[in-house]
Formats: sequence, C-alpha cells, structure tokens
Amino acid sequence: MTDELTRRFYKLGNVDQVPDPGTKVFTIGKRRILVARWEGKIYAMDDRCTHDDGPLGEGELVDGEVECPRHGARFDIKTGKATCLPAVGAVRIYSIEVREGEMYAGLPQND
Ligand code: FES
Repeated sequence: MTDELTRRFYKLGNVDQVPDPGTKVFTIGKRRILVARWEGKIYAMDDRCTHDDGPLGEGELVDGEVECPRHGARFDIKTGKATCLPAVGAVRIYSIEVREGEMYAGLPQND
C-alpha cells in the first residue's frame, strides 16, 4: 500500500486566504493546521508547538521558519524540524495539494 492510499485529503480553503509570504490557521475537526506560503510554495503543519503547545499560527514566519510566540522556538516549515530551542521535537507536517485554487491537506486515514 502506498502512502497516498493511507491518506485522505481534506479541503482547507482557498489559497488566496493565505498571505504571501505568511501563515493562516485552518481547522479540520479538532485539528488546527497552519498553512504557510513561502517563496512561491505552500506548506502545512500542526498549529501546536512541541515545547508547550504554543499556537504557532500566532508567531512570525521568518526565513522559512515559523517562530513560536510563547518562548521563541523555531520550526522549519518544509520539514517541521525544530531549529531553535527550547523545542527539540519536530512538528508534524502534512502534504498539501492545490486544485483550482483550493487547498487540500493529506491526513492519515486512521488519525
Ligand atoms: S510553547 Fe513554543 S517555545 Fe514554548
């Protein structure tokens, strides 16, 4: 089974809702997903800092990294990896597709 078959794509909204460059948070059920536009591409990750659950969508997008507004940890928007303390764990990232201007996030089916 390929990874594509284990994911289900959920509509987030229109790509024009996300500043370029910048971020916007969308909700799918109880899940908050931060969408970032940076250098012509779109990325998606959980809107939750791995240090202490800070709301990453309220932070700044700087040089391809989102900075947590609570204690300043940073995360690479492409990989989700923590690049600055106090966070050490990566934020979960999601695949994202744009079809006719609408964004869809790929979430695991059994999540
Ligand atoms: S909650 Fe994000 S750095 Fe502490």
